[in-house]
Amino acid sequence: ASGCFEHGLLTGRHVLINAGPTREAIDPVRYISNHSSGKMGFALAEAAAEAGARVTLVAGPVNLPTPPRVNRIDVVSALEMQAACESALPADLFIAAAAVADYRPADCATHKMKKDPKSSNGLTLELIPNPDILAGIARHAQRPWCVGFAAETHDVLAYAADKLERKNLDLIIANDVSAPGIGFNSDNNAVTLIDRSLHEEHLPMASKNKLARQIISHVAGRLATDKA
Ligand code: CTP
Ligand code: CA
Repeated sequence: ASGCFEHGLLTGRHVLINAGPTREAIDPVRYISNHSSGKMGFALAEAAAEAGARVTLVAGPVNLPTPPRVNRIDVVSALEMQAACESALPADLFIAAAAVADYRPADCATHKMKKDPKSSNGLTLELIPNPDILAGIARHAQRPWCVGFAAETHDVLAYAADKLERKNLDLIIANDVSAPGIGFNSDNNAVTLIDRSLHEEHLPMASKNKLARQIISHVAGRLATDKA
């Protein structure tokens, strides 16, 4: 289905991508998660494979078919996603498209939690921070070229540039999720790519498949210059 997409742009490269939400267990039947559909990450995996890369896609719980020629590893929690991503190294390129839960319950109850029928009290869950998968890989001895996403509702470019710096990334893809019809769980998206010299490149609203190809072309070009 790729037609004229630039074949061979990533030939010989190993591309690692994570996608979708993570689920953090509260007890055997309940969890904390988010509305990420995984569509952007899966579209990127498909585009990278079309461009000739060997692709490892670490996927949280999503309802999407595996793109052709993509090696998919399914995970549930942030800790599992981190372990699967680190095991997949070395890679030439890491694209962190997953919406990793920032926190998880401090302990997962072994049995289904029961409510107290005699009490009208609420329930307080203790949450602890999850590791930052992307920042960890960007510090790794076998550091790939690192691309992050920043989904923001306000001050989009400033927050994205701050994440680029803080996580030591090569590129960040800023995503305004407050705009109607784009971003989380939508078929379309519009993004701005920001690199280490704070050069901004805007990719206007398009389908996630079209944007994925534009992003892969852009990143493949950068990779060819930086890692020749
Ligand atoms: N990320 C990650 N591990 C986490 C949290 C985020 O790898 N525990 C990655 C995401 O996959 C994304 C980038 O970091 O590529 C930015 O995620 P985002 O949620 O926007 O940033 P946070 O650092 O979590 O900050 P906040 O949610 O407070 O905006
Ligand atoms: Ca976050």
